[in-house]
Amino acid sequence: MLFLGIETSCDETAAAVVTADGVVRSSVIASSAELHTTTGGVVPEVAAREQVGAIAPVIRQALAEAGVAPEQLTAVAVTVGPGLIGSLLTGVAAANTFATFADLPLVGVSHIFGHLRSTYLERASEEFAYPVVTLTASGGHTELHLTRSATSAPELLGATRDDAAGEAFDKVARLLGLGYPGGPAVAALAAEATETVEPLPRAWLMPRDLTRNFDSVTLGAHLRSGRYSLESFDFSFSGLKSEVRRRATEHELTPDQRASLAAEFQMAVCDTLATKALLAAQLHGAREVHLTGGVSASAALRDTLARYLPASVSLRTPARAEYCTDNAAMIALAGAWLYVREPTRYTAIRQVDADLGKSLV
Ligand code: KG4
Ligand code: ZN
Repeated sequence: MLFLGIETSCDETAAAVVTADGVVRSSVIASSAELHTTTGGVVPEVAAREQVGAIAPVIRQALAEAGVAPEQLTAVAVTVGPGLIGSLLTGVAAANTFATFADLPLVGVSHIFGHLRSTYLERASEEFAYPVVTLTASGGHTELHLTRSATSAPELLGATRDDAAGEAFDKVARLLGLGYPGGPAVAALAAEATETVEPLPRAWLMPRDLTRNFDSVTLGAHLRSGRYSLESFDFSFSGLKSEVRRRATEHELTPDQRASLAAEFQMAVCDTLATKALLAAQLHGAREVHLTGGVSASAALRDTLARYLPASVSLRTPARAEYCTDNAAMIALAGAWLYVREPTRYTAIRQVDADLGKSLV
């Protein structure tokens, strides 16, 4: 079975052809990221206008590179949300039109569910050990999910209450006078740090002794005492960003201080993400932790998580860097997962169910 995936939720216009078990036959990504370097972030109207022009050539190229004709496809999968509405509409309109003319089922996919499937791309021959805890950290989202088995839908454990992790990187990069996207720029500056600075806040972080020497009896006692709640699987990065702003603007920073502030900021984000992923894994007896989304490209985050996880829990990241950031291969695979589970649901539907953008599967 072959699936065409279409992704236009942010500044990328992407199309891919993928088999149901994750073999990527083609993955084409056109990005307008360089248009956003001067603004320090994506301007929705600018992104959407680019996508209107890019969508048809990108789909055509994905089919050509895969050597696949429309009639060989099983279904079309498209991101229906969450994302920038003008951008999403372009992808959905294109997918709807394509599916109608090619007489193919159309599967609406949540962008987050796409990220959750990105670690399964190009891993057809590998065994996955469940339960799996997935940390998705991108420019728009920071979420923790639990997947109990290969056939079960992911359950949301926690999400950001304000800024996403990648968004925090982007905003701090702007504060420090760096370019967009912020993650790699902050990482490069952090690598030059020579001094340690006063620690930055790590919101709702579980106490380290509890996550390191985990035992469920102690955790249970803590939860019952009300000192910590499972709500703490939520994330907050806006206070951290405000503190960086205060330190960056109160005094003129020397180049050394600037680099050290970037390093401490990066460590605060990685510490928070990794500790919560570790605690979720411990609590649910996870055998694998998956790291997805644009921020999963961060070497600092990968290293931190690898250091925190016990040997019994393996860490998996997407097989290629291009599957960390937004791409259509993950959307095609997510659509395949949904379609295989319930093929009759999509055969008669020619329009995307708006609710699918909100729920995961
Ligand atoms: O998944 P993605 O491509 O788009 C969204 O769905 O938002 O993620 C983009 C985000 C940006 O905020 C960017 O700063 C961040 O991923 N990012 C990184 C790194 N590479 C990209 N953050 C930290 N370290 C990196 N190496
Ligand atoms: Zn994304």
